[in-house]
Amino acid sequence: MGRKVTKAIFPVAGLGTRFLPTTKSIPKEMLSLVDKPLIQYAIDEARAAGIKEFIFVTSRGKGALEDYFDHAHELESSLKKSGKTELLEILRATNMESGAIAYIRQHKALGLGHAVWCARRLLSDDEPFAVVLTDDVIQGEPPCLQQMIEAYDETGGSMVATMEVAADKASSYGVLDIAEDMGAIVRAKGMVEKPAKGTQPSNLAVIGRYILAPTVMTNLNKLKQGAGGEIQLTDAIAEEIEAGRDVFGLRFRGQRFDCGSKAGFLQATVAFGLEREELKDEFVEYLHQVTAMRRAAE
Ligand code: UTP
Repeated sequence: MGRKVTKAIFPVAGLGTRFLPTTKSIPKEMLSLVDKPLIQYAIDEARAAGIKEFIFVTSRGKGALEDYFDHAHELESSLKKSGKTELLEILRATNMESGAIAYIRQHKALGLGHAVWCARRLLSDDEPFAVVLTDDVIQGEPPCLQQMIEAYDETGGSMVATMEVAADKASSYGVLDIAEDMGAIVRAKGMVEKPAKGTQPSNLAVIGRYILAPTVMTNLNKLKQGAGGEIQLTDAIAEEIEAGRDVFGLRFRGQRFDCGSKAGFLQATVAFGLEREELKDEFVEYLHQVTAMRRAAE
């Protein structure tokens, strides 16, 4: 039984080059699926999982992201005056309690592991923590991080979210080497970052949700001292396994979209658009028309 997880780290210091030129001035995390920025999807998921403190690892040019969580008093009172209660509710749902959010800077994009390590002073030595990558947007019920917390409550150790991928896609992910397959949960005996084609130990890829034992931070500390270039979170998790500590993978129930890529972002836009009652009919009709036109042109 693990200790309660109440803090989550959101590494948002990457350059977001795949979305240039937009990301010249807008952080990738502020890109919107229908009408809600990626960061809000991540926060909502973390809140549903019982997270109380939200640590953002940011970098230069992420000002819009910090401003987003300020309460919009003028806007709220104007919506209130004009009786737009539904919009007011939407706005209020984004309000965060004072002191619940911390921003830490990563001064150089030295990798995901390094970004997580930047938050070390905001965690106590014996505290497990969650890491949420906002690029991965997940439709799931209950939300993915909650599924993970429920599984972690039984297993303890560290837990990563996993999904099956085709063999030719495995080289884009961290991949688990499986010691024991218990169905939804697997116990890992290794973890490899972006294995060369054909060398992947399984087809279970790790995606952007983690619950990590405090010792992972200790491992990152060590890697920081030894490393010249990028510091990989995968290496710090793999070290847990080498030290004989438990690392599990959860086959979560839900659909994950890689919103760090253009194709994934477009797919998510379609999926979330179709979920909206007020948009669904018009959108379905449009998609049918587009598909029919493309077929006719072929
Ligand atoms: P990505 O590999 O997607 O990199 O990072 P990126 O810079 O965000 O995007 P591209 O590839 O240039 O388009 C995965 C996650 O890790 C964070 C990113 O913000 C993203 O959430 N990250 C990555 C950091 O916070 N710091 C880093 O040094 C690297």
